[in-house]
Amino acid sequence: MLKAVRHLSQVGGETSELKKVESVLDLIGETPLLEIRKITSGVPRGVRIFAKLEGFNPGGSIKDRPALKMVQEGIKSGQLKKGKTIIESSSGNTGIALAMIGRALQYPVELVIPDNVSLERKRILAAYGAKVILSDPMEGSDGAILLCREIIKKDPDKYFKPDQYFNDMNSQAHYETTGPEIFRQTHGEITHFIAGIGTSGTIMGTGRYLKEQNPKIRVIAVEPDDAFHGLEGLKHMASSIVPGIYHEEKLDEKVPVSTEDAYNMVYRINQEEGVLVGQSSGAALHASLQIAKRLRSGTLVTVFPDFGGKYLTTNLWIGWQEKMKVGDLQFSI
Ligand SMILES: Cc1ncc(COP(=O)(O)O)c(C=O)c1O
Repeated sequence: MLKAVRHLSQVGGETSELKKVESVLDLIGETPLLEIRKITSGVPRGVRIFAKLEGFNPGGSIKDRPALKMVQEGIKSGQLKKGKTIIESSSGNTGIALAMIGRALQYPVELVIPDNVSLERKRILAAYGAKVILSDPMEGSDGAILLCREIIKKDPDKYFKPDQYFNDMNSQAHYETTGPEIFRQTHGEITHFIAGIGTSGTIMGTGRYLKEQNPKIRVIAVEPDDAFHGLEGLKHMASSIVPGIYHEEKLDEKVPVSTEDAYNMVYRINQEEGVLVGQSSGAALHASLQIAKRLRSGTLVTVFPDFGGKYLTTNLWIGWQEKMKVGDLQFSI
């Protein structure tokens, strides 16, 4: 048998062993925390802001965590067995996560997504071999949910539906991984947790874990300020089908963010911090800065759910080109 090779690296003065894994699925989680050091005007000295960079997950987003947990639990409970197809309605990232996991575990995957999801996302899903079913873009993520229900009704034995909006394993994944990681990475010093709501799995699960460690930690949700918004991945709860796993009473506060403010923050995160993120990360940092400005001290942790490469053909970047009068990028959309 081959002897395992030990890789040692120096990270910030600590010697750590580099990860060596047997499956791509073992790479999910343990994402880094980035301190926001440049976009800090108006933030008191005693307040630090960190962002958890979930784009480092192998499927490229935070949704790898719940997707894996829901599939694992499906297999454990016998609901998902060989011969079945995984189906889900997803605004994109959960779809990509399931497509990757389906490939790695050799299950076919079908995804129902609104037709206005970015082209890059559709192509990534196709590259992972998933069947993509498009729903009416005017009906948003709710339209995809309803169409998915119809498809399953026609052939219920064929499918395993992780059901991310109603499956407690979605938030449980964050309770078991995202929460403990953040608590460890901040040495227990976190005072505020701020995250966007889509299915609400991130905020529910991470928030529950953090409050159990320290009930004083404030859990703050970020949501689009309007039913018609351009914040892919996020939900405006008042005008949406409310996820079964969402319990608003567990939140300390909700901060509405406009699409324009979120997009402008995406450009700043790129220009000032050198990180290309998606629109929900812009919303998360915009809200975090608002909260930071009213404190004297604190350790704020927010989540950047994914990187921005998947959104380059969306309004996010088309708008930027127009705004910055950038004519020389020369990419055709
Ligand atoms: C880009 C992006 N941001 C934020 C979220 C919200 O995460 P959650 O579903 O855990 O509330 C999602 C969910 O799909 C997402 O895709």
